[in-house]
Amino acid sequence: MSRLVAISNRTAVDPKARAGGLAVAVWESLKATGGLWFGWSGDIVEEGPRSNTLHAHYDEGVEFLLTDLTQEEHDGYYLNYANRVIWPVFHYRIDLAWFDRDAFTVYAAVNQRIARQVEPRLRNGDIVWVHDYHFLLMADGLRNAGWEGPIGFFLHIPFPAPEVFAALPEHHWIARAMCAYDVVGFQAERDRYNFIQYLIEECGGEDLGDGRVQAFDHTLTVKAYPIGIDAQGFVEAAHSDKADEAAQRIGQFLGQRDLVIGVDRMDYSKGLPQRFEAVGRLFDNFPDTRGKVSVTQITPPSRSKVEEYQELRVELDQLAGRINGDYGDLDWIPLRYLARSYTREELAGLFRIARVGLVTPLRDGMNLVCKEFVMAQDENDPGVLILSEFAGAAEQLQDALIVNPHDTDDVAEAIHAALTMSLDERQRRWRRLRDITVEQDVSWWREKFLADLAPGGLS
Ligand code: F6P
Repeated sequence: MSRLVAISNRTAVDPKARAGGLAVAVWESLKATGGLWFGWSGDIVEEGPRSNTLHAHYDEGVEFLLTDLTQEEHDGYYLNYANRVIWPVFHYRIDLAWFDRDAFTVYAAVNQRIARQVEPRLRNGDIVWVHDYHFLLMADGLRNAGWEGPIGFFLHIPFPAPEVFAALPEHHWIARAMCAYDVVGFQAERDRYNFIQYLIEECGGEDLGDGRVQAFDHTLTVKAYPIGIDAQGFVEAAHSDKADEAAQRIGQFLGQRDLVIGVDRMDYSKGLPQRFEAVGRLFDNFPDTRGKVSVTQITPPSRSKVEEYQELRVELDQLAGRINGDYGDLDWIPLRYLARSYTREELAGLFRIARVGLVTPLRDGMNLVCKEFVMAQDENDPGVLILSEFAGAAEQLQDALIVNPHDTDDVAEAIHAALTMSLDERQRRWRRLRDITVEQDVSWWREKFLADLAPGGLS
């Protein structure tokens, strides 16, 4: 019988990690089909026999096989190449990229090394599904190691415009390796278009139509498969005891004020300084909102060993202080900025009572917070979603108030419009957002991708 075999840098071996987009989606897929998940253990070890061992864990029918990284691998592959080269370039921040040949050498070596460890564990009929920018070269490694079965790849982050991708010194190498997959999936049509345009413009590739592309002597499927959430599960989370408790706790502080909420990993792609500026604009341009609104921004720190993330932390701390200093009053804190994480249930409870959900990244592959915000709303009195046009989700969630996150006046106006929107319009917009979020949920995403990768099914 065939199995689904997932490969990703982070896994959901720790139940607490079953909250982020990739971890939830892959976890739901593997639980539904039973299977095997390869990834990084999260540990850094000395070079030696241990660095070549796979650690096994079992949970709910899923087998995890995890590898440690040596310090050199961690720094070159994860910190430097994945997070200081690919991440900024794919999020249109070439200015923040630290191009470094040595880091690419380590990145390529880790892809090959893990491929060599995975291949002997594969069985005839297995379906291999590789996730995200850490493993762009994995198909190449698996083919070199002798694997002949199907291999699919899903990119959870954006794929940039051709001339931005071409800024990567290794762009040709990476594109060639991506074409060794049988199916390459993107979050949004825009990403799919960018990749195909790049192949046509830079590599003599050809769009064969119907999602088929030819490049580097290989014919592959290239399509958009927008990732979804466990929509029903999130509704349940929003009505759990933990959700009620969180809603009550913040309710004590809110009083009669309207809650505007944002939840984002602390990352420069999320547009947080611009969002804080927009909050200031709201109080300047619409003085009637002063004292009546509480903006709460929950931002767990992330990748704090990377300098650009440390700088962002300092910038946000300062900006939040300035906004509260400028606009706050004896009985009102305009912007509550919490640099810590909360559980999925707690967040669901906060979303449920929020009047406005602010999701304004400068670039985002999909963004699942906006889908969670939608599912947490109460049909009788739903809150309003404000969504950046640069999040992949904007292609699906057109009934949100779509904004340009760089335009702080536009965002301030959207917040004001959301706070004053009639119940009738809120309900009309919300029902359409809910319908698409339910219809195109995480199972829909998995089935759509696997139908192209393994047309015969998993058994
Ligand atoms: O969504 C992209 C992603 O890299 C996921 O793979 C990961 O779970 C998340 O961001 C957090 O990043 P990191 O694994 O670098 O902490």
